[in-house]
Amino acid sequence: MNEEQRLASQQITAPKKEEKDYSQYFEKVFTAPSLKDAKKRGKEDIKYHKDFTIDEAFLNMGVGRKFYIRTYGCQMNEHDTEVMAGIFMALGYEATSAIEEADVVLLNTCAIRENAENKVFGELGFLLKYKRKNPDMLIGVCGCMSQEEAVVNKILKQYQHVDMVFGTHNIHRLPNILKDAYLSKEMVVEVWSKEGDVIESLPKKRLGSIKAWVNIMYGCDKFCTYCIVPYTRGKERSRRPEEIIQEVRELAAQGYKEIMLLGQNVNAYGKDFDDLEYRLGDLMDELRTIDIPRIRFTTSHPRDFDDHLIEVLAKGGNLVEHIHLPVQSGSNDILKIMARKYTREHFLTLVDKIKAAMPNVTLTTDIIVGYPNETEEQFEETLDLYRQVGFDMAFTYIYSPREGTPAAKMVDNVSDEEKKNRLHRLNEVVAEFSGAALKKLEGQVVEVLVEGSSKRRDDVLAGYTRSNRLVNFETDVAPEELVGKLVNVRIVEAKTHSLLGEFVNVVN
Ligand code: 5AD
Ligand code: SF4
Repeated sequence: MNEEQRLASQQITAPKKEEKDYSQYFEKVFTAPSLKDAKKRGKEDIKYHKDFTIDEAFLNMGVGRKFYIRTYGCQMNEHDTEVMAGIFMALGYEATSAIEEADVVLLNTCAIRENAENKVFGELGFLLKYKRKNPDMLIGVCGCMSQEEAVVNKILKQYQHVDMVFGTHNIHRLPNILKDAYLSKEMVVEVWSKEGDVIESLPKKRLGSIKAWVNIMYGCDKFCTYCIVPYTRGKERSRRPEEIIQEVRELAAQGYKEIMLLGQNVNAYGKDFDDLEYRLGDLMDELRTIDIPRIRFTTSHPRDFDDHLIEVLAKGGNLVEHIHLPVQSGSNDILKIMARKYTREHFLTLVDKIKAAMPNVTLTTDIIVGYPNETEEQFEETLDLYRQVGFDMAFTYIYSPREGTPAAKMVDNVSDEEKKNRLHRLNEVVAEFSGAALKKLEGQVVEVLVEGSSKRRDDVLAGYTRSNRLVNFETDVAPEELVGKLVNVRIVEAKTHSLLGEFVNVVN
């Protein structure tokens, strides 16, 4: 059966290719991104779609077919992959972990730094081999890179074996995009640059059964000068509190033990509500009452981190004492050029307030070194701030120019070698502090949420503490009795990036 017969048998009206004016059709399936449009922040209302449903006509599209999704980048992308997997499965597709078996391969991409993008282009080149073996395989690019004009142009020119490109705002259109790709001879490009919709009830195939991601908001309006995210993820849109609370309740009822609330700038949660004075602190205060052991959130922005939130987090319970608080730089000049809209002093005062309210807090951060024209002194201010705060851990990056952002136009007098050198020096300080933080835990009993056994040994189980530290521990108890449970573990040794311990008991 060919594709048209196949779709016809599933009641999809397939356009007859030979009768069709193809150029017209191609126009329909070609909506390219524009960074200029993506930058606009209009006053138009955010549309809520409460009940997403898949058109019946698509429902059997995937029967007898398999999909494979490779995810790059942040947890938001991981969660989008869960949604796309949910849609695929609702269409009758089956998941596979072997690319060569897949009928549809999607790369869910990340645009945050150049090396993330290079990995994707490398993989796309590699996929050509599979496409040659199986010309019916559909290859798709989605996620943040798809939102960039330059990327889409490059794919159109150099990667013609790609069948579909779609963006972060229209993953709910996956059934339509797949249908178009099956029927079209040309690459299907459907990227919306400006979209304010929040769509509820999307199907999800969650990757785990212990920890779950829950979106609380989408997009970012901060426009830090180095960052591509406000362009690729659009304007800030918050989900309604009742939808979030309901989702967390359902996950608790299903037996999930930990929730990670997601947003690019979660401290802006609720700012976009016209009818409601309700912010992240209010949300956390309500989630606190749900019977689920752990709730965390990422990522915070120091500017919007308010006192009410600190007050609520200090109540503890299922709200864990770990805050990821990206500082990016310790120099006021650089913070200004980055448009972070806070000063070093503001950041330090915030940290003091947090530490006073939560004496056991674990603070982690993100730092960029080698910003255009960053001087040695400015870099040293970052090292100094790091020491002053005493972060437990940090993700550190060399600045990577992103086309279309203001920083990409800045003249830069810092050599690559110097940037690498600064990263290395910063990482030494990071290692010193994270080593000391782990060492402090030797001899202590910590609560671990057990996620599985170690790859090499069945009698070594692994999990994370409330502060998100990895703990490996030996036990005679069978893994199936402990996986998914909270247990107490006595720490016997601090390793470089993890802790080694021994099982004490199950937490009741
Ligand atoms: N170059 C380097 N690092 C970046 N980040 C964001 N944009 C860039 C860029 N252009 C880092 C920031 C952010 C983290 C997710 O990635 O530190 O907090
Ligand atoms: Fe990017 Fe975060 Fe700044 Fe938003 S707040 S622009 S996501 S670094």
